[in-house]
Parts: sequence; C-alpha cells; structure tokens
Amino acid sequence: MKLHGKTAIISGAGTGIGAATAKLFAAEGARITLTGRRPGPLQEVVGEIEAAGGTAQAVAGDVADRAHCRDLVAETLAAYGRLDILFANAGSGDRALVVETTEELWDQTMNTNLKGTFLCVQAALPTMQEQNGGVIVTMSSILGQSGLAQTSAYSATKAGIEQLTKVVALEGAPYGIRANAVAPGWVETPLTEGAQKDEALLARIPQTRFGRPEEIAHAVLYLASDDARWVTGTVLTIDGGWQAG
Ligand SMILES: NC(=O)c1ccc[n+]([C@@H]2O[C@H](COP(=O)([O-])OP(=O)(O)OC[C@H]3O[C@@H](n4cnc5c(N)ncnc54)[C@H](OP(=O)(O)O)[C@@H]3O)[C@@H](O)[C@H]2O)c1
Repeated sequence: MKLHGKTAIISGAGTGIGAATAKLFAAEGARITLTGRRPGPLQEVVGEIEAAGGTAQAVAGDVADRAHCRDLVAETLAAYGRLDILFANAGSGDRALVVETTEELWDQTMNTNLKGTFLCVQAALPTMQEQNGGVIVTMSSILGQSGLAQTSAYSATKAGIEQLTKVVALEGAPYGIRANAVAPGWVETPLTEGAQKDEALLARIPQTRFGRPEEIAHAVLYLASDDARWVTGTVLTIDGGWQAG
C-alpha cells in the first residue's frame, strides 16, 4: 500500500475527483478527513470507505472560511495524530463572457478556488513544518495554462493556483515538504455535466473522450506518495492529449 500509515485532508471530497481520490487513498492505507460544504455527499463517501475497511471522517464547511480550514487540521490531528497530505481540490466556476461576468461570480470563484486553496495550504503548513515533512497537491486545470472563452474567473484562479503551488514548493523544501499541482483536462464529474455531450468539444480531445475521476486520482496518488519524492514545484497535466494540440 502506497500510503500506509499516512493521513490526508481532501477538500471537495464528496463528489467527482475528490471522492475518487478519497476512496483510492483509503484503499492505499491512508486515514482521511474529507471536507466540502454539504455533509450528505461527504457522509456517503465516508460510508463507502468504511464499508471497504478504511478509515475516514467528514468535517463539513467552506474552504473560503479560514476558521474552517484551521478546524480541518485540528480535527485531523485529534483523530489521527498527524497530517501528511493535503489535496486542495475544492473548486467551482460557472461560465460567462468577460462582459457578463458579475462581480459576484468573480468573487465567488476567487474565494473558493484561489483563496480556499491558499487558506487550506496556510492551515496545513505549520503542522507539516513541525513534522519535517508533508505533501501538498493542489488542483489546477488545463485552463490554468491555455485560454477558453467564457472562463475568465475560473482560468485566472487556476493560473494563480499554479503560481501559489510553486511558491509553496520553494518555501516548503527546507522542511521536506513537497507541493505540486495536477492540471486535468475534461473529466466526467458534476462540474462538467453540461459539456459532456458536446460533440465539438469531444472532437477536440485527441483521445475523444472525457477523463474519469479515477484517472485523475491515480495522478494525485503518484504525487502524494514517496514514488514522487524528488518531484516538487511542478504541474502534472492529465488531459487525454488536449494540451499537445
Ligand atoms: N471536471 C473537470 O473537467 C475538471 C477539469 C480540471 C479541473 N477540475 C477541478 O477539479 C476540482 C474538483 O472538481 P470536480 O470536477 O470533481 O467537480 P465537483 O464534483 O463539482 O467537485 C467540486 C467539489 O468541491 C466542493 N466545493 C465547491 N465549493 C466549495 C467550497 N467553497 N468549500 C468547500 N468545498 C467546496 C463541492 O462540494 P460542495 O458543493 O458540497 O461544497 C464538490 O464536492 C475542481 O477544483 C475543478 O476546478 C475539474
């Protein structure tokens, strides 16, 4: 098992990529704190993990709330005694042209994606520094690197997350802390429900299909595990070939 004895916090863990990663991490031996705003989906995933013999707890809340991010770390230490891995995955983003992007949409996207990632990282770092080790994986997107109409707020947050991750890698290295981002292409999750039947979009993906949440989870597992012990400050793209074009 690649994460035997490790503990992890995963945000956005009730659905999609976060849920798939939580189940994979648990199968690999990690004890996990799952977070997201809605308790229902989190409890469902905790139930699945426990039914499979794993260990997990749900701590519901908003990652844009600094107090919640600090609670996440405190609850993880209380339950499991240490914090080895943070997967800052929670994110959202509705599509709108720049001229139609409301200040509310901009702020909400910034708060969840960029500020939420920052606050989770900031809350986790002191414990990882004390432990002299830890791994942070953040969630970018192919839209952190290439543009797509109607995604100004979302793309800006993902580009920001990549830069934040590089800085965390530099500041974390003296403490044995690694930080990397994953940048998925189009993945079958609730976030992309509207796009999944878009034939023109599918035709632009070299593998002509959306990715599956489990396919991203395996990339996160690689970065979180000791297999990636010399990998830090980088962005791992998993996109069925989208960026090659
Ligand atoms: N699907 C794709 O094609 C794709 C591609 C590239 C990157 N990504 C990124 O992957 C991440 C996961 O998305 P997904 O595709 O798996 O979609 P998803 O199923 O909608 O997952 C997003 C999760 O984030 C949680 N969340 C949203 N806002 C939150 C907040 N303020 N505080 C705490 N949790 C919050 C949601 O739960 P609650 O609503 O209960 O809070 C939900 O479980 C996102 O960062 C997304 O940008 C997705």
